[in-house]
Amino acid sequence: MANFSPAFLDEVVARSDLVEIISRHVDLKKSGSNMMGLCPFHHEKSPSFSVSPDKQLYYCFGCGQGGGAFQFLIQHDGYSFPEAVEYLAEKAGMEVPQDRDRSPVAEAKQKQAYAMLAQAADAMGRALRSEEGSAARAYLQQRGMPTDIIRDYGLGYAPAGYGFMQKVFGNDARSNSQLEAVGLLFKGEHGYGDRFRDRLMFSIRDRRGRIVGFGGRVLGQGEPKYLNSPETDWFHKSDLLYGFSEHRDSIRKSKQLVVVEGYMDVLGMAVHGLKIALAPLGTAIGERQIREILRLCDSPVFSFDGDRAGRQAAWRALERMMPLLKSELRPRFLYLPEGEDPDSLLRREGKDAFQHRLDKESKPVLETWLMGLQLLAGHGADGRARMAKKADAMLATMTDTYLSQAWRQEVEQATGIVLQQARRRPQARASSQPSPTPAQPSAQARLNAVEERFLAALMQQSARFRDLPDEAISFFVDNEIISPLYSRAFSIIAEAEDDNTDIARQLAQEYPDSQTMISRWVNQATVQDIEFKSLLLDMEANDIRLRIKRGLSLVEAIPMQHRLREIQQEQRRLTEQLHETGA
Ligand code: GTP
Ligand code: MN
Repeated sequence: MANFSPAFLDEVVARSDLVEIISRHVDLKKSGSNMMGLCPFHHEKSPSFSVSPDKQLYYCFGCGQGGGAFQFLIQHDGYSFPEAVEYLAEKAGMEVPQDRDRSPVAEAKQKQAYAMLAQAADAMGRALRSEEGSAARAYLQQRGMPTDIIRDYGLGYAPAGYGFMQKVFGNDARSNSQLEAVGLLFKGEHGYGDRFRDRLMFSIRDRRGRIVGFGGRVLGQGEPKYLNSPETDWFHKSDLLYGFSEHRDSIRKSKQLVVVEGYMDVLGMAVHGLKIALAPLGTAIGERQIREILRLCDSPVFSFDGDRAGRQAAWRALERMMPLLKSELRPRFLYLPEGEDPDSLLRREGKDAFQHRLDKESKPVLETWLMGLQLLAGHGADGRARMAKKADAMLATMTDTYLSQAWRQEVEQATGIVLQQARRRPQARASSQPSPTPAQPSAQARLNAVEERFLAALMQQSARFRDLPDEAISFFVDNEIISPLYSRAFSIIAEAEDDNTDIARQLAQEYPDSQTMISRWVNQATVQDIEFKSLLLDMEANDIRLRIKRGLSLVEAIPMQHRLREIQQEQRRLTEQLHETGA
């Protein structure tokens, strides 16, 4: 963790608005003192994602993700911790202290690289609108791209000939080497030259929406048809998906995602209002990209050209997908008519026909798998055996054992051969979990229902801590995880200068590992005072029983037994009160 002082981090959190940060991605509706919405970390139909504006903590009761502003930026938007701190601090107008864990040189370099890429994209956008961009503009018009799409997706033009980038950034040794490092210039025998010349340019953004590279298409004929930025520290083709930062929110909202092959398909669909497409960057889709896709949507449609190459690509995608499949996920495969892609189909048939294909012609992954196996096997007994062998090997990569059993039965039915159950690769499991797993290990405390609600009650209203009876100090002494938090809460109260100190917020900052748990407590259904009274009595009673069980002298035990009876009476009174108020 970086060396930001706790006081600085407190201040950053205090000046940030978690509701505003989360609202950019989730529709939140007021629900009691909290806000509820559909969880952005897993797929769900009814809201279990809660945000507490008072405590500035969020928690999902469906998948268990939780935390504060930093966590959200890290888990959802792909920030690193120092980046999240910096981002919020800058937004709040605070001076950011140098992070001593990162070399200032490397940090400055990276910032410069992003700034340079953004500036280059601007220049390409201007070039597209200028005189020299007229042919590129005409091409885009001919392909039906309106100006709002051109602007929103950062399309541009890299002029023909050499010297464009140097005109923008200067032609000194420093700029040249920086431009080379970000992949905009190459170094040849005769010095530096523009990598992209006379090409239509696509800006490629990372999860946070920063431009990290470009794709360039020739205008008309030429080789290569598409040229991409080279791999750099921040441009990893196999980690990126074209359209991700632009479409993430609309994919979640519409619960629709289509994986397409090309940049033009992503844009062509957006033109028709289908802002739900993602594409790999000209390479076959890999496991990390598929994982990202399945996290975003549980029923993505993977579309492929219907020709031989398309079927092979689909099979490769399916092989990569196997370890990530779970019974709750419903990926589908769509083969398009030979030689067509989503962009060409949309322009020929229109939106409705295309949507119809997505809904009605796409096939479930299991069907696609069986069809692929059959094609691979060919005919006859040999074929059936080959199919069984291949199926067995592929089933062995699956991690959802229920699903693999079901699929095994399907293949056995199709081939009439009983599969041997190839031994599972043990490492397959640990590395492949598409479901939202917390990014950081968080403390797991064992708590019973009373303890859980009791802690929720205290965290929801700090004042309750102040009024606890003396006996309460000994609660949780045996719980390694809760005990330090719980006793720290008492000292926070003792140290507090006024009544405004919020225990939950303070603890969440001091115990980052427990932040998820604290978020869960504050986001639970509000504990009303009468329930709190009853919980407190339960806690006390349990504490006494525990002490009696451990063995006490008679002198000690008698008053305890007496107190237990008192507690029971008080509980009865509370119950009556509850009935009277009709609660
Ligand atoms: P249009 O022909 O403009 O409609 O583009 P397209 O997306 O239909 O092109 P195509 O189907 O040929 O290619 C799909 C994707 O593969 C492109 O978006 C590129 O990402 C990638 N691609 C195509 N040709 C090349 C190439 O020559 N080099 C590289 N690196 N990638 C390519
Ligand atoms: Mn195309």
